[in-house]
Amino acid sequence: MLLEVRNLHVSHGDAPALWDVSLDVAAGQIVAVVGPNGAGKSTLINTIAGILRARQGEIRIDGKDIAKIPSHRVCDHGIAIVPEGRRLFTHMTVLDNLELGGWRADARGSAEGSLERVFSLFPILSERRHQIAGSMSGGQQQMVAIGRALMSRPRLLLMDEPSLGLSPAVVEDMFRIIRTINERGVAVLLVEQNIHKALEMAHHAYVIEQGRIVASGKADTLLSNPRIREAYLGV
Ligand SMILES: Nc1ncnc2c1ncn2[C@@H]1O[C@H](COP(=O)(O)OP(=O)(O)OP(=O)(O)O)[C@@H](O)[C@H]1O
Ligand SMILES: [Mg+2]
Repeated sequence: MLLEVRNLHVSHGDAPALWDVSLDVAAGQIVAVVGPNGAGKSTLINTIAGILRARQGEIRIDGKDIAKIPSHRVCDHGIAIVPEGRRLFTHMTVLDNLELGGWRADARGSAEGSLERVFSLFPILSERRHQIAGSMSGGQQQMVAIGRALMSRPRLLLMDEPSLGLSPAVVEDMFRIIRTINERGVAVLLVEQNIHKALEMAHHAYVIEQGRIVASGKADTLLSNPRIREAYLGV
């Protein structure tokens, strides 16, 4: 298994945010994590990325526990994150932002190849490589954030609400892009508020409420589950 999360407990200070969370992502899969505001989705993604520390539990990549390694080493294990709200260096150019994601590839002498791959996925970023990132549209900035993550050639991409704040047409583009990235061999752990779209695209999914996994299974099975449809899809 590419990613195995086992019995994860995470707190913000004294406030527990995740209880006994376990989940799997197989190589090449898209796995969705859905749930209401404040359920703990970002906490989960940020803990896997090493930005937050687990109080208890294991995070294994190819069987190796990475729960206690420093965050700047997590990308050495093939994990990259597209954080909630993108967190670009908005005063820097597109190219500068992308290159910051590529220092690991750089060390391996493959940053140029990575840049070409990102530009083949997002031709607009190649055209606008010298533009200041903060001056671009929301959708283009999200492309920069995704491109930056891909610069480290991850095997697992963690995406925290990539469609947030984008217009419906751009959201469609974003989901197409996620599918293309996955077809190029990258597994995706996708946190989404756009539950219908996320479940349509994912292979497996987990529903998280108040810090606990309350349902999981094949995404199309969850999509047809009456309780999920009522609670999250308004049908
Ligand atoms: N830095 C923090 N300090 C204290 N509490 C926090 C912190 N970050 C998150 N929390 C709390 O932890 C819980 C889980 O938050 P989290 O951001 O993981 O939820 P989420 O599912 O990503 O929500 P959203 O859909 O709004 O992004 C919430 O109750 C939140 O208020
Ligand atoms: Mg969140």
